Amino acid sequence: MEQGRLDSQTVLHGVFGDPIKHSKSPIMHNRAFRELGLNAAYVAFHVGPGKLKAAVEGIRALQFRGVNVTIPHKVEVMEYLDEIDEHARVIGAVNTIVNDNGHLKGYNTDGIGYVRSLQEEAGFRVSGKRVLMLGAGGAARGVAYALAREGASAMWIANRTVDKAEQLASTVSGMTSSSGIGYEQIADIRGEVDLIVHNTSVGMHPNVDEVLIDTSWFHEGLTVSDLVYNPLETRLLREAKARGARTHGGLGMFIYQGAYAFEYWTGLPAPVAAMRETVEAALHASS
Ligand code: ATR
Repeated sequence: MEQGRLDSQTVLHGVFGDPIKHSKSPIMHNRAFRELGLNAAYVAFHVGPGKLKAAVEGIRALQFRGVNVTIPHKVEVMEYLDEIDEHARVIGAVNTIVNDNGHLKGYNTDGIGYVRSLQEEAGFRVSGKRVLMLGAGGAARGVAYALAREGASAMWIANRTVDKAEQLASTVSGMTSSSGIGYEQIADIRGEVDLIVHNTSVGMHPNVDEVLIDTSWFHEGLTVSDLVYNPLETRLLREAKARGARTHGGLGMFIYQGAYAFEYWTGLPAPVAAMRETVEAALHASS
């Protein structure tokens, strides 16, 4: 096949979200397909309110091989699938759909993508470590689950809505010692923390001057990780670095959640370096 040429054999993939115009998934996956010489394509679809069920039917009708699902559809999409992977079920969200001859199975690659990126980019080994999670939304659920499975010894989950923090703490309580707290209670446990993971959108472009919590107590020996990747260095990470903490940005989670999805669809190892190069170039071009 001539590289990049679509024809009547092209295997289709896509992402469903609202909004979706800024998604970097299409350029990342199309680069991966090109890199491996696959006759496949990946397109972004703006799926508005009330349209998700019809869009999922479209995967079957049009025989897409794979789809990613992003905000705000990761929870609702579970209703329309034939099967849900056990980890995605516990997390309560699906970001990847695999279509096997009309049978749709949902997976969650966000959490495993996060842990892989934390290990490979920050050299952080989760086993036996104590974690402070900031936020308890959809993204936090995948990350908390994956960190707990990886052997984190304790997890405090701080959230504005403490109920949600408590719910997430109970989801992971069989795997780690966990509790839900409010942000004001961080002061009581901060001496015990090895890793902080920021899981909210505070500090994301265009609100780059925002930071969720007081960072004056950050110190050497602490690792601070931010799921936000636009900007690549958030205010939280800048302040953490200034206090000698090790930092880890959110881009790697995005790359590796995509890499795992790519591997589910194609059965081939994802060309991670090429995927990262493409996304970094696009982020630099738009900043
Ligand atoms: P996502 O899928 O990106 O995690 P989400 O499920 O809507 O999105 O969760 C958003 C998270 O960011 C939640 O933890 C939310 O706190 P609440 O549960 O209290 O709403 C948090 N969040 C968003 N904006 C925030 C803000 N301005 N201050 C504090 N927390 C915020």
